[in-house]
Amino acid sequence: MSRLNPALLPVALALAACSSMHSGKSPEAPSPAFSARPFGITKEGKPATLWTLRAGSIEVDVTNHGATLVAVRMPDRAGAVEDVILGFDDVSGYESSANQYFGCTTGRVCNRIANGTFDLDGYTYRLAKNNGAHHLHGGATRSLDKVMWEFVSAGSADGAVAITLRHQSPDGEEGYPGNLDVSVTYKLQPSGELRMDYRATTDRRTPVNLTNHAYFNLGGAGAATILDHELQVEADAYTPAGETLIPTGAIATVADTPLDFRTPAVIGERIAQLGDLGYDHNFVLRSPLGLRRAATLRHPGNLRWLQVWTTEPGLQFYSGNFLFGQQGKGGKTYAHRSGLCLETQHFPDSVNQPNFPSTIVDPGKPYASTTVYVFGTER
Ligand code: GLA
Repeated sequence: MSRLNPALLPVALALAACSSMHSGKSPEAPSPAFSARPFGITKEGKPATLWTLRAGSIEVDVTNHGATLVAVRMPDRAGAVEDVILGFDDVSGYESSANQYFGCTTGRVCNRIANGTFDLDGYTYRLAKNNGAHHLHGGATRSLDKVMWEFVSAGSADGAVAITLRHQSPDGEEGYPGNLDVSVTYKLQPSGELRMDYRATTDRRTPVNLTNHAYFNLGGAGAATILDHELQVEADAYTPAGETLIPTGAIATVADTPLDFRTPAVIGERIAQLGDLGYDHNFVLRSPLGLRRAATLRHPGNLRWLQVWTTEPGLQFYSGNFLFGQQGKGGKTYAHRSGLCLETQHFPDSVNQPNFPSTIVDPGKPYASTTVYVFGTER
């Protein structure tokens, strides 16, 4: 390493703490629960770090650029380990135009805000229009996926290992009101649960809607398609949208549509009915209270599965329609529809839709949201 990476300093301390768990190490001792390595230098000259969390049979990589989930390595039925998340080998890939929000923490407001504008407390706010006429995923240059998050802490206890990252977004960043202090904790359990706890506080009322934008392919990132995966979504309804994906405000039943995933269905079976845009829809999750299961994804060949649990009211299922064959980790190619996202969130454009659950966060009422990805393999 030619350059001292200050972000690795607290890691060294955390590692020292972790290593006490493995006293009396033998050559067969498990690899440490937590490690860190440099992940390249950003265009602004900031060093990026890649942290690896290990628990049970799963390994997870996270970087401070965009508080991004970079990799999840998990076995299949035969024990073959594959990385099931699309991403890049270092931070330069995440800063390139090939990056379509791979694995990032998305915000301040994920998904779309119609015409890049909203009214709040007597003011009209104008945001970047970075998706045709609309605002997408928090803006153009300083959205949460594009900034370097600070390392807060890391540790390991009872077999679980966790890391917390934080970003202090100043008043007016990307046009949003209020100084927003936002954090995400990734916690990996030996059971295969990867929990993401999001917290945010503000000094002025402001919309907040955070999600993780991981692209999954349970056949391994770089496998040709996700059209062979089976999906179940715990939703009886969805929010219909116009051509530019802004909701009309209606809530409609999934019955008799290609969005009916109430029982498991193969993704490729009905996708042609949706035209070129494929799946890019917000589902209204059943029973809106508490942490409950939102979706189950299964690879019928290798029997890996993923469950998504969340406290959020909605889930955007996006079938990777804009992937274009960019080169990702290990030189692998990410073809059209070779990764899919299950983005837990409040509904798109909620800030302009009085009928949708509110995304406004108050100084006296901090934002809190939890999503859990559970990774497993049928035996
Ligand atoms: C979201 C959107 C999609 C697309 C991707 C990123 O899932 O709903 O339309 O913008 O992010 O490419």
